[in-house]
Amino acid sequence: MEGMKSKIVVFGGTGYIGKYLVKASVSLGHPTFVYTRSLNSQTSSSKIQLCKEFSHMGVTLVQGELEHEQILKVIEKVDIVICALPYPQVMEQLKIIEAIKVAGNIKRFLPSDFGVEEDRVNPLPPFQAFLDKKRKIRREIEASNIPFTYISANCFGAYFVNYLIRPHEENNHTIVYGNGHAKAVLNYEEDIAMYSIKVADDPRTCNRVVIYRPSKNIVSQNDLISLWEQKTGKNFIKEFVSEEEIINLSRTLPSPHNIPVSILHSVFVKGDLMNFELGKDDLEASELYPDYNYTSIDQLLDIFLVHPLPPASAAFE
Ligand SMILES: NC(=O)c1ccc[n+]([C@@H]2O[C@H](COP(=O)([O-])OP(=O)(O)OC[C@H]3O[C@@H](n4cnc5c(N)ncnc54)[C@H](OP(=O)(O)O)[C@@H]3O)[C@@H](O)[C@H]2O)c1
Repeated sequence: MEGMKSKIVVFGGTGYIGKYLVKASVSLGHPTFVYTRSLNSQTSSSKIQLCKEFSHMGVTLVQGELEHEQILKVIEKVDIVICALPYPQVMEQLKIIEAIKVAGNIKRFLPSDFGVEEDRVNPLPPFQAFLDKKRKIRREIEASNIPFTYISANCFGAYFVNYLIRPHEENNHTIVYGNGHAKAVLNYEEDIAMYSIKVADDPRTCNRVVIYRPSKNIVSQNDLISLWEQKTGKNFIKEFVSEEEIINLSRTLPSPHNIPVSILHSVFVKGDLMNFELGKDDLEASELYPDYNYTSIDQLLDIFLVHPLPPASAAFE
């Protein structure tokens, strides 16, 4: 029916990127469902608070485990499935794929990608193994003939600003990986979420990869540090970690601690996010939605000047 908005379920909707996705889905007028593990006495107060906030926004919370019958029930009620489960749960998406096959009503599935364009990079072994799992999910979706969109959101902007320049600390030392010149792409989480909801319901993006590479968000570590120095009047003392040292850490650290260093190598030393050209057959988010006013990295740093966000997640500490 015309005017009826697609119904969207977000798996992992209470998570780091998930909560932005849920809010974006609601703000774009979609009836929104969040599939979440059952609340119990162990549930953190911040998750309980977030679930209350979601309920007030009109979100339908569906409590359940990652188990076929329970997943199937929610999938039968919606049109679009977006998965934002964390890395350790990537293979659990096979259960979501199975339920989508059985239900047969889903018009788009976005698996939990949200990072590098995994079919176009060739990183160090620990990151390669991480991406292999995500690639397996892509191939399973294709083999199952499920309509999909794969999103390469590149770096979560606030998360990486927090990690690299630590605006919440007084410290004027900063660590630079490699020589600091490689270009990366840092996108504000709110924009990643808005683009993702838009691509999920866009006929142009069906069975395609969409890369989030807005021109004002392409920066190197050195660019980021200079921008922050200009804004704060601070001078950073840079401590360089050589490529050799990073490669060595990726070989010697136990799993999963070898993954973050391998990601840093791929993104900030090799510049993998910008190592391939976008051709005329590629879809880029800011070109697909030119009227959407995204937050540039410069504007994101202005936000940090006012509200230093909480430190980056433990995964990168
Ligand atoms: N590009 C980047 O810079 C970047 C950075 C970080 C992550 N990522 C990617 O973004 C995606 C989402 O990651 P995230 O960090 O946002 O996830 P997250 O916050 O760690 O987790 C998302 C949600 O998954 C559910 N969950 C957690 N552990 C679970 C378990 N054992 N069993 C079932 N459900 C579980 C939880 O929801 P409930 O408690 O409600 O069930 C949690 O809120 C991943 O693909 C990750 O690789 C990208």
